[in-house]
Amino acid sequence: MSSVNKIAVMTSGGDAPGMNAAIRAIARACQYYNHQCIAVIQGFEGLINGHFKELDARGVRNIINRGGTILKSARCKEFRTVEGRKKAWENVQKHNIDGLIIIGGDGSLTGGMIFQSEYGLPVVGIPGTIDNDIYGTSRAIGFDTAVNTVVEAVDKIRDTASSHNRLFFIEVMGRDAGHIALNAGIAAGAEEILIPEQDDGIDSLIRTLKYGKKSGKSSSIVVVAEGDKTRDNVFNLASQIREELPEYDVRVSVLGHIQRGGRPTYYDRVLASRMGIYSVEILREGKSNVMIGVDLDKLILTPLKDAVKGKSAINKNMVRISKILSV
Ligand code: F6P
Repeated sequence: MSSVNKIAVMTSGGDAPGMNAAIRAIARACQYYNHQCIAVIQGFEGLINGHFKELDARGVRNIINRGGTILKSARCKEFRTVEGRKKAWENVQKHNIDGLIIIGGDGSLTGGMIFQSEYGLPVVGIPGTIDNDIYGTSRAIGFDTAVNTVVEAVDKIRDTASSHNRLFFIEVMGRDAGHIALNAGIAAGAEEILIPEQDDGIDSLIRTLKYGKKSGKSSSIVVVAEGDKTRDNVFNLASQIREELPEYDVRVSVLGHIQRGGRPTYYDRVLASRMGIYSVEILREGKSNVMIGVDLDKLILTPLKDAVKGKSAINKNMVRISKILSV
């Protein structure tokens, strides 16, 4: 018999397609196992302000196919303070919550870990971020959808790039990580992919582009992760290339927040559903302070402290593959 009765769930940080599928799975698993499911609205802000709502199996109908998060999300500064977390704890006690499931990125999981260490509330993390930059899982919810969105956008830009013989710099999200850029860049056939994890410098880019022209390429796509350090930003990078390589007609396209929205792919829906159910089961088993991850299609657990401290390494073989493909 599990000692858990009321389970709270929240989404926090940048939203990611598939978060709704996880919420739905959590609400349904709670009903299946006879627990009460409490939705915390607007992430840690809702925990601090006592913005809670009961969620039952029917309350999560028709959301598996929707992007964003029905629970809303926030990046909450107040939760970083001792006073903020104290207010949150008072609300948790008032509502007799026995466990908290946080769907979010590493900042959100760090918040959960600190909260658990201060007040002992069992916390389970589910990785949800399009950036896929969380240690302890090969995939975070939202990444697959975001990469597909980027590939579709780059395919469209390629049509116009090749019609005008242009060079396009396409900036994609990834403040600290190049997973979206690397995977979407390979899938969309980019000539060059610039990511924060691998700084080859601008000379290497210039060499590649010069070689491309010589070898007969009429148009080119360079996918640039937001956090890439070749230059301070994609516009200055494009300006420098314009100066150095006047033979190129250069354009910049910043994909921005369209990458965060849209219907989740089958993969994100299934992953989120599996992780959501598992998170309830973990709390029932009396385990906590862990993040659920996926490795070779199996669900695994990583202590929260390792998940937030570790770096999700870029796959070096994928970098090598991208170079061979763009020859
Ligand atoms: O969710 C992570 C992320 O997508 C980053 O790649 C990006 O820098 C950031 O969100 C932008 O988020 P916002 O505009 O919501 O602050």
